[in-house]
Amino acid sequence: MCGIFGYLGKRDDALELVIKGLQKLEYRGYDSWGVTTDLDGELFVEKKVGKISEANLDDFKDKKTGLAMGHTRWATHGGVTDVNSHPHFDPERQIAVVHNGIIENYQELRDELGKENFVSETDTEVIAHLIAKYRKELPFKEAVLKTIQRLEGRYAIVVMNVGENYLIAARRGSPLIVGIGDGEYFLASDIPAFLEYTQDVNYLDDNEMVIVDGGVEFLNLETGDPIDKRLVNIDWQAESAEKGEYDHFMLKEIMEQKETIHRAINQDTDEIMHIAQQIKSSRGCFLSGCGTAGKVCMAGEYFFSMIAHRHVNFAPSSEFPIYHHFLRPESLLVVISQSGETADVLEAMEAAKSKGSKVLSLVNVEGSTIARQSDFSLHIKAGPEKAVASTKAATSQMALLLLIATAMIGELQEGRRLLAEVASKINDILNPRFLTYIKSVAEAIKDHENCYIIGKAENYPMALEAAIKIQEVSYIHAEGFAAGELKHGPIALITEGTPCISIVANDEVKQDIISNTMELKARGAYIIGISPENNEAFDEWIKVPDVGVASPLVNIIPIQLLAYYIAVLRGLDPDMPRNLAKSVTVK
Ligand code: AGP
Repeated sequence: MCGIFGYLGKRDDALELVIKGLQKLEYRGYDSWGVTTDLDGELFVEKKVGKISEANLDDFKDKKTGLAMGHTRWATHGGVTDVNSHPHFDPERQIAVVHNGIIENYQELRDELGKENFVSETDTEVIAHLIAKYRKELPFKEAVLKTIQRLEGRYAIVVMNVGENYLIAARRGSPLIVGIGDGEYFLASDIPAFLEYTQDVNYLDDNEMVIVDGGVEFLNLETGDPIDKRLVNIDWQAESAEKGEYDHFMLKEIMEQKETIHRAINQDTDEIMHIAQQIKSSRGCFLSGCGTAGKVCMAGEYFFSMIAHRHVNFAPSSEFPIYHHFLRPESLLVVISQSGETADVLEAMEAAKSKGSKVLSLVNVEGSTIARQSDFSLHIKAGPEKAVASTKAATSQMALLLLIATAMIGELQEGRRLLAEVASKINDILNPRFLTYIKSVAEAIKDHENCYIIGKAENYPMALEAAIKIQEVSYIHAEGFAAGELKHGPIALITEGTPCISIVANDEVKQDIISNTMELKARGAYIIGISPENNEAFDEWIKVPDVGVASPLVNIIPIQLLAYYIAVLRGLDPDMPRNLAKSVTVK
């Protein structure tokens, strides 16, 4: 939620650079944006409702400066207005703050500082006011430290002070990365903001502060003592975070699934075996994640059951803490997250750790909070995923879970072979003819208000995931069901022409789901079958390869495409759906 970016260095176009960097973080929030700099002792500020991708860089060309910072907002406290946009200031407008997270004790601090002095409805503004209060008796850096020590909640913040050529940043619970260039420094919520300038980074950890002036100094937030940080070189290429030839990141990322599954499965064998062994030796293993990652966990439940005959429990991370009654030191929590920053997942991890249970994670963003707070973390290597809708990360996560299940029964090589075949068959289906056909199906259903998806066994989670994909980018009401549950209620929703997607794998439950599909058809549903084989129940047949137990990995792909094309045909932006943000760092 929210992207922040600050720059200090040798260039004189810092404002433009910050705006361009924020455009790369726009996926984190796009309600409004704002930038600020110090122009010869005078604060320059621009704040606007709307997307930062619509900012006109020409408006900033004559503002020469080597220091600037800005923010792209996903609103939490206070409506979507210019005044609630960041940066926020102290009453004298000498101190500017950008913030990602939530200050939980902001009401109490507002009362202390005098409510009447505030101009916005945000929690963030208290930070600037409090620094100003302490500034009266302390040097600026100490005033910032003392302020931060009083904040409760989750935050990443960057602060600047008019007339002083440095930036101060701190984090607890929200990401902040320091990019170290040649005579220049970057402070950002995510790496793509500065990837074209440097690949050398320091990850700021919780309860750490950094002062960026002619160099960087890291401090412990609680004690104020200096700390040493390890410089990490990121192996992402700048182009991997760009749209390239595609109109949208979502389509680019769907198409990348040809390669990303290969990258996921070509992991170090020892690491896969380590996770497999941990799951085997645990007493009570839980899988947890949110949204799409949660549906991946559900698919994992089926993989572990069908392949390794091992019972694991799935719980959405937002519900997991209540499971603490079941947790013991021998329990294991395996969390899955693309961003590695999801607040609900972090809370699930805290619940597990409080009972002495071990936590393993599968994450896409290396160095993310979830990765660093796990006992062991495996990187899924899908590359940057920028579209809000998770696509390639989900299939890579499923590939790894399936691989781990095969490793648990000593069949890792067979698992690798199967998944390599899956990757090659995905490569085959993602051809122009397939895309054109999916687009024609999207055309046929784009004006409907409802859409239902059914799946069974390992494809039941894909029915739920399909619903998320369609809901979030096309705004059509979509719901996924376990096929056998239809007759217990949902079938009442079906009327003449209602689009229904039936995911029919070539497995032992095929006949059952075909019968359920016929039941829908008999009530007038317009059936889109996703299956290796055609069936008389289907009005449209999306042919997918038969890959056995790995079928969820191929079956979800046409649905990702369908959601994408429906959104585009409805004139929507699939990369930035309303009300959402890529990384959900609030509970
Ligand atoms: C997926 O399309 C969603 N936008 C969302 O459900 C996402 O999967 C969820 O917020 C979890 O994010 P994470 O994988 O970064 O933890």
